Amino acid sequence: MKKFPQGFFWGASTAAHQVEGANVHNDWWQAEERRCVKVASGAACKHYELYAQDFDLAKQLNHNCHRFSIEWSRIEPQEGNFSLEAIQHYRQVIADLKSKGLEPVVTLHHFTNPAWFSQKGGWTKFNLNKYFLRFVERIVGELAQDVRFWVTINEPLVYSSHAYFLGVWPPQERSLLKTVKVTLNLAETHIKAYRIIHRIYRQQALSRPMVSIAANLQAFEICRANFRNKLAAYLRNKLYNFYFIEKVLRKKTLDYIGVNYYSRNLVDVKSWKLADLLAQTCQDNHFPLPKNSLGWDIYPQGLYKLLLRLKRYGLAVLITENGICTDNDDLRWDYIRQHLEQLHRALAEGIEIWGYIYWSLIDNFEWDKGFTPCFGLVGVDYRNFKRTVRESAVKLAAVIKNNGI
Ligand code: FCB
Repeated sequence: MKKFPQGFFWGASTAAHQVEGANVHNDWWQAEERRCVKVASGAACKHYELYAQDFDLAKQLNHNCHRFSIEWSRIEPQEGNFSLEAIQHYRQVIADLKSKGLEPVVTLHHFTNPAWFSQKGGWTKFNLNKYFLRFVERIVGELAQDVRFWVTINEPLVYSSHAYFLGVWPPQERSLLKTVKVTLNLAETHIKAYRIIHRIYRQQALSRPMVSIAANLQAFEICRANFRNKLAAYLRNKLYNFYFIEKVLRKKTLDYIGVNYYSRNLVDVKSWKLADLLAQTCQDNHFPLPKNSLGWDIYPQGLYKLLLRLKRYGLAVLITENGICTDNDDLRWDYIRQHLEQLHRALAEGIEIWGYIYWSLIDNFEWDKGFTPCFGLVGVDYRNFKRTVRESAVKLAAVIKNNGI
């Protein structure tokens, strides 16, 4: 059996807007109301009410950690108006996790913003990040005693590109300039948030927190080994995978690297146009691989390769997301098993990995794709909110029990 290190974290992840339901004060909800996105999140999984029941399932499945996000628009539904009730709610969420032996990993920004913040211009305006930082100061001040692991911002580049370049997430813009501005603003904001969090722990005389981002990493593989493809893969790695990490690392503001890994991007570029160099993928079905239900290639080796690449930063890694949407639960188990094998290979190469957090604990609202992609270890019947534990979850539970595969 391939063993994982003692104290390895095993768990699953969620994000507020995708599971809680009725996040009426954020920009996504507003876009849903205006029918700018196809499907509305509505009651989602009712996790805001049912969290304790969901954490019971995580516990039964032997998890020892859980990643979730705090919804800023619940904490501060109107500018400057902090909801004590919402703060109390998340305090209870954390207390419930801890009572069940689940270490909380808390995300502070997972794609959604309070509507009032977006109306002012959101992340396109550098001076507005003071609002997010005030929220960070407040909520971390309240919860520091019970949380050790923080993720400031989930997938900053996925957020900026989907909201400001691809135009698919609110505010659905298509501006390269704004995409760049938002990305730079998020980097600046992470750096400041990191410092605020560390200061709070010092002031409260608590032991050092572990603060990072969750970086979305893709395996950029070239289809044919020509110069153009090599250049394209180099640029994509540089820009999409490592730019943000390196930028915040220059300010020494990562205590570990949070990695979200899903898939491969097969690079095959047919022209020298910048847009093609940066985005064109193979259209000829060269090197076909099994896919998830959204058509993303399943490529476990990519995780191993990226982990080796991260070694140069000299930081531990926490897999903050890895998962598959599929209606075929056998395929889900294959996906998990194969990725754990690659993780183990990386461990054997001396990479420090703290844990594996699967996306997601329960099926949920997959943003502009709605409710059809099923990523959950646990299925959700949206008519009655009944949960059903999948076989893959039980198999993962056995791996966790053995701390090995
Ligand atoms: C990631 C997001 C997460 C979820 C998964 C499938 O990019 O962080 O919210 O949507 O993809």
